[in-house]
Amino acid sequence: MTAKPTVHYELPADLSRERLPKHVAVIMDGNGRWAKRRGLPRIMGHRRGVDTLKKLLRCCRDWGIEALTAYAFSTENWGRPLEEVDFLMTLFERVLRQELAEMMTEDVRIRFVGNLTALPESLQAEIDYAVTQTKENSGISFTIATNYGGRQEIVQACRAIATQIQQGHLAPEDITEDLFSQHLYTADICDPDLLIRTSGELRISNFLLWQLAYAEIYVTETLWPDFDASEFHQAVYAYQQRDRRFGKVKS
Ligand code: IPE
Ligand code: IPE
Ligand code: MG
Repeated sequence: MTAKPTVHYELPADLSRERLPKHVAVIMDGNGRWAKRRGLPRIMGHRRGVDTLKKLLRCCRDWGIEALTAYAFSTENWGRPLEEVDFLMTLFERVLRQELAEMMTEDVRIRFVGNLTALPESLQAEIDYAVTQTKENSGISFTIATNYGGRQEIVQACRAIATQIQQGHLAPEDITEDLFSQHLYTADICDPDLLIRTSGELRISNFLLWQLAYAEIYVTETLWPDFDASEFHQAVYAYQQRDRRFGKVKS
């Protein structure tokens, strides 16, 4: 197989290619409010939110960003009305099925993080298929957090490590940050450089608690369905103005 040439389109002139975030994570929030303001049912906001995500993925790919992770459903979101939860599960399944061919053409590698075994079986099957089909793709890495909770992820990592200790395969002193990271859902994905949250909420709502340790956080009042390329441009521009010190002093 011949390697596909890397083509970058349309990186706005005021953004530096060298200082692009490698990995962008988004908390896609505000779908319900978007719909409510228009007198529509909340689900219409979710439907529109899918278009926003598709456009963002394309923009990231075009600009040469290596990884995008989107928070689609939290472990706490099961507490929403059954009708909304059902709608979301069906929506995820339908979108995955519909978008797979394009993901292949665009060389996107899809991954999922979260406790997937609790999802409807038909969705799990669609996820398995999409992940397997796109496994060898070498373009942008696109991760969807579904039934994801940062605390749940940390607890399951602790259990896995404790089991290995109990079986004599590991000693407590073998537990390092690296080893711990290897037991998270994100084992082979680098930590996000930039976290964007839409709809103005100043919290991370149980998203990537471990991985966001040094992410730059950008919050916009814009509701997720209205978040477009120019909003994303502003977020990346703001990121490029930050001084990432990682606890050190400026040289
Ligand atoms: C985010 O939008 C989507 C999901 C959590 C699935 P919301 O549905 O949380 O929208 P708001 O916050 O109620 O406006
Ligand atoms: C976070 O949004 C989860 C997702 C975007 C999937 P929520 O709307 O669930 O978060 P809270 O309730 O405002 O903290
Ligand atoms: Mg919300």
